[in-house]
Amino acid sequence: METTKILSARFGKIRPDSVEEYVAAGGYEGLKKAIGMQHLDVIEEIKKANLFGRGGAAYPTGIKWEQAYAIKKGPKYMVCNADEGEPGTFKDKHIMAEDPFQLIEGMTIGAYLMGATEGFIYIRGEYMGIQRIVRSAIENAKKAGYLGKNILGAGFDFDLKVVSGAGAYVCGENTALVESIEGKPGRPRQKPPYIKNCGLYQMPTILNNVETYSCIPWIVKDGGEAFSALGTDFSGGTKLMCLSGNVAKRGVYEIPFGTTLRELIYTIGGGIPNGKKLKFVHLGGSSGACFPESLLDTKICYNDLKKNGLSLGSGAVLVVDDSSCPVDYLKAVMEFFEEESCGKCTPCREGNQRMVEILEKLTEGKGTMEDIKKLKSLAQTMKTTSFCGLGQSAPVPVITLIKYFEAEFIAHTEGKCPAGKCKMNGKGVK
Ligand SMILES: Cc1cc2nc3c(=O)[nH]c(=O)nc-3n(C[C@H](O)[C@H](O)[C@H](O)COP(=O)(O)O)c2cc1C
Repeated sequence: METTKILSARFGKIRPDSVEEYVAAGGYEGLKKAIGMQHLDVIEEIKKANLFGRGGAAYPTGIKWEQAYAIKKGPKYMVCNADEGEPGTFKDKHIMAEDPFQLIEGMTIGAYLMGATEGFIYIRGEYMGIQRIVRSAIENAKKAGYLGKNILGAGFDFDLKVVSGAGAYVCGENTALVESIEGKPGRPRQKPPYIKNCGLYQMPTILNNVETYSCIPWIVKDGGEAFSALGTDFSGGTKLMCLSGNVAKRGVYEIPFGTTLRELIYTIGGGIPNGKKLKFVHLGGSSGACFPESLLDTKICYNDLKKNGLSLGSGAVLVVDDSSCPVDYLKAVMEFFEEESCGKCTPCREGNQRMVEILEKLTEGKGTMEDIKKLKSLAQTMKTTSFCGLGQSAPVPVITLIKYFEAEFIAHTEGKCPAGKCKMNGKGVK
């Protein structure tokens, strides 16, 4: 399938920290064009692009930038969320490892519009090698006059720093992330105030994901309408999808919005290997929905996914074949949330622990129908009462796996694991 590539066009073709090679391959045209335009006209192009935030919450970027632009107090800060903590997500890593200048250029365009002179790229601690590449790219951009004082002679200054995360999933939540940059424990803040008004050091802050910023240079250079036209009516452009699990060709693929999940998994990804069949797909990371084959013809597009009760999240597509047990799988997912809950609020701290205990009982053949009822009730309580997105979305896989595979959950209360995965106290009952 030959489609237009925006973010991955230069992958493997340039040295990632060579500003000269980036410029020779069309880089920094967006910034040069932005400098010659009215600020609000640039923001208008981003609005026309139908670019929704690629970090998970899918907030419209043009609107975010318009709102941030309208705030008159300062200093304003540019922050990039490169925490990439959502399991099954590894797209930002590729952007930073293979073409980090598009991210740096996107942030510089934002800084020019907002009048921000300082920016931070918060990169997860596990990405040590990538931090080195991004730091080197920043240094080279400075030497070439694309960062630092009086950028391109246009009379504006902008400096960028890399901040290393310390391995906490919650630090990807935007307010926890700014707390962490400030050197405090990474725990979410009460919202409102939103970080566009009161973010880093209590100042207006523009925070976007790596992929979101990386779309900006192309949008400014080629126009918002051209970007939007690559996708569907409500989801402009292309998306980096992370294909993993029981699929033949795992990897990161740039697809136009409107591609179906079936095309992604079977045509691009080569389908399910070893003669197995699909059991379910876990979409958008661990906090996303799990669903069976019947929804595979859904288009990857914010609206179509929403109509089917799904959301794109970070763009992770984890494929699970029919040798897997949904109860056992869910236990592993919930152990992750139990570990990563920051403990600030009761529903998330206690809820995840109780769910793991129940799932342990079920996988050991000791669970009851009452336990399944408790799982459902805990999930609803966490969704509606947790303090931040972590606890609000952790129950999504619980709700969706029970919705589509309730019979298998019930079988576990009868000492049977239809997939034959759970040991059932050593009984090995199938
Ligand atoms: C628990 C949690 C973890 C998150 N992790 C990330 C992350 O690793 N990267 C990211 O870009 N957004 C993450 N987000 C979403 C951010 O809070 C925020 O919406 C996003 O970075 C905004 O950028 P965007 O509009 O470009 O998507 C996370 C949210 C929550 C609740």
